[in-house]
Amino acid sequence: MERTLILLKPDAVQRGLVGQILGRFEQKGLKVAAMKLMQISQELAAKHYEAHKERKFYPGLVKFMTSSPVVALALEGIDAIKICRTLMGATFGADAAPGTIRGDFGVSRSYNLVHGSDSPEAAARELGLFFPEGLVKYDYAAINWIYDPVEELKK
Ligand code: RTP
Ligand code: MG
Repeated sequence: MERTLILLKPDAVQRGLVGQILGRFEQKGLKVAAMKLMQISQELAAKHYEAHKERKFYPGLVKFMTSSPVVALALEGIDAIKICRTLMGATFGADAAPGTIRGDFGVSRSYNLVHGSDSPEAAARELGLFFPEGLVKYDYAAINWIYDPVEELKK
C-alpha cells in the first residue's frame, strides 16, 4: 500500500467543494488514513513548497496557501500517488481534461483546488510535515471489495 498527501486548497474550502472533491478520491477506492482542516503557517508553506523557492510564482503560491484553511488528507491504496495525480488532472484548470478534479471545477493557473504528492519520497516528506502526529490506524471494511484479495492483497 502506498500513501500520499493531498491538500484541498483554500479555494476548494471557500467554494464549498470539499465534499465533492473528497468524494472523488473515496469513490475511486482510496482509504482516508488521516484528515484535518488546518491553517497553514508561513513556515509550513515554505517547507512544503521549498522545491519552488526560486520560481517567480512562489510568493503568490505561499500567499494563496496561507490565505485561508486547507483540508489535509493522507490517502492510502495501491499506486495511490499516481492514481491521485490522474484524478487531479493537469496543473492548470484551463488545461486539465474534463472528468478530472481540476478539469471539472476550475479554470485558474493559480487557484487549482488540490495538491498531491508527486513521488514516494515527496509523499513521505509531506506526510511528515502535515501529520507529525502520525496517521489513524483502522481496518477499512471495503478493502476486500475494492481489491481482489487473492490477486492483489496477497502477502
Ligand atoms: P501541486 O504541487 O500543487 O500538486 O501541483 P502540481 O504538482 O501540478 O504543480 P507544481 O509544478 O508542483 O506547482 C505547484 C503549484 O504552484 C502553482 N503554480 N503556479 N502561475 C504559475 O505559473 C504556477 N505554476 C505553478 C500551482 O498552484 C501549482 O499547483
Ligand atoms: Mg507539485
